[in-house]
Amino acid sequence: MKYKSIIEKMTLEEKASLMSGKNGWETKAIKRLGIPSIFLSDGPTGLRKQAGPSDQLGLNDSLPATCLPTVAAVANSWDPEVGAQAGAIIGSEAKARNVSMVLGPGLNIKRNPLCGRNFEYVSEDPYLAGKMAASYVRGIQSQGVASCIKHFALNNQEYKRMSIDSVVDERTMREIYLTGFEIAVKEGKPDAVMSSYNSVNGHFTNENPHLLLDILRDDWGFGGMVVTDWGGDNDRVSGIECLNSLEMPSTAGETDREIVQAVKDGRLKEERLDECVDLLLDVVFKRAAASKKETPIDFRAHFDKACELAKECLVLLKNDKKVLPLNPATKVAVIGDFAASPRYQGAGSSVVHAALVTNALDWIGRSGLDVVGYEPGFKRYGGKDRRLARKAVKLASKADVLLVFLGLDEFSEVEGIDRRNLKLPRNQLELIEALRKTGKKIAVVLSCGCAVELTGLDEKADALLYASLSGEAGGEAIAEILCGKAVPSGKLAETFPLSYDDVPSRKYYPGREATAEYREGPYVGYRYYASKGIKVRYPFGFGLSYTHFD
Ligand code: BGC
Repeated sequence: MKYKSIIEKMTLEEKASLMSGKNGWETKAIKRLGIPSIFLSDGPTGLRKQAGPSDQLGLNDSLPATCLPTVAAVANSWDPEVGAQAGAIIGSEAKARNVSMVLGPGLNIKRNPLCGRNFEYVSEDPYLAGKMAASYVRGIQSQGVASCIKHFALNNQEYKRMSIDSVVDERTMREIYLTGFEIAVKEGKPDAVMSSYNSVNGHFTNENPHLLLDILRDDWGFGGMVVTDWGGDNDRVSGIECLNSLEMPSTAGETDREIVQAVKDGRLKEERLDECVDLLLDVVFKRAAASKKETPIDFRAHFDKACELAKECLVLLKNDKKVLPLNPATKVAVIGDFAASPRYQGAGSSVVHAALVTNALDWIGRSGLDVVGYEPGFKRYGGKDRRLARKAVKLASKADVLLVFLGLDEFSEVEGIDRRNLKLPRNQLELIEALRKTGKKIAVVLSCGCAVELTGLDEKADALLYASLSGEAGGEAIAEILCGKAVPSGKLAETFPLSYDDVPSRKYYPGREATAEYREGPYVGYRYYASKGIKVRYPFGFGLSYTHFD
């Protein structure tokens, strides 16, 4: 043990006290031994340091931060350097705000496209997930701040996420659901791993010796600390047995007392507790120094960086008749609510109070194109509005190219809730149908953080640019790509199936009762579609560019 001499000076109660948070975000300090407390904050899209009372779902506002493209968007760059740079921005803002540990990135496999948190995760492919997560970790930790990868493991549905038992065979678990974590642990060397809420094969992950001891520690050699997901402790003593060093948030001392009692009763060896304390202290002492005093953040510079990164993440899915890039002075009508009110991040614990948000409409206005006007075209949160659609069609008649901004609204992709279907809102599909009848060229920009069914849209659009959730600077990045100031180079990190009926786990996803059964085994994403010869709308890895090769 590294901190044996300090641990020897601690009382049993003091050791136990370190095993849970002081409040929602901080660890406890022991002043007499010079042990500081450190601050932990979400998250993977940008720093979410809450200003007021803490909550896990981003309900209370947090301090302004740079909102980067979501992890799902960054994954489309297939470029670990992009992940590392995103991580470095998050890490630098964490450091500037006295935060010692960033709770991210998340890298659960996109087992099913309906998972409500897919916008926060990397891919359906474990290798890509691991490589990108490792790069985020490197970036965050390059700033002297700890990274905590999450959610370990098999947390692939939001429905009943705190009680569901993921039932999976060993091969599938290791090949598909753990390989990404293994790469992230070995190559990224994160200081911390967050255990997930769910159980795996009958044991809550946080007290699952096979996951936390055999695999994470023994097989992979992880030497950092394990922290529970917030409120994700089930039996504190079993967690300590599995070398979990921190339960978050505070339990007002209740579980600390359980630990003390277990040691006194002889149910828990004090040496085991010492090991957990040692693992925690290692991170606390290493990272507390990162957070000495607050320093200013150059949000303007970080916005520019976020824009640079966003440009790497956009995926050109279709470009018939070479509609894109647009020639200067092309007459364009900008249509669709998302052009003016961008959808640029997901919802839940990853929500960032974006320091500077701009929209594509403004950037298109400044791009040299001849903008004949803007119309929202549809109601953002669904429902028919013929007047809006009519006005959009009328505007379309004045333009040569229609730039149509579609996507999912803020309530469609949310932590804690899985999506009900893969469809785009009907009012948006009706609008595109009406616009198609004008005979004008149509370029659609699609903003959502997950795969959607494109039937009814794909065949009506001449060009389709998948913006994913591209962060606060996404509007500028989109405008630059549309005008050819930047070249699209993103490739899908997940399959876009033709229909939800083709998804391998569709018949038993999400697990509704006690268990989520991974009956499809390793046939997740393209592994299934390719093996079974099932046609998809856009395959994993797909993405066009403007460059033409002869
Ligand atoms: C989420 C984690 C997050 C934590 C703290 C939990 O509900 O699952 O991803 O880091 O809250 O906000």
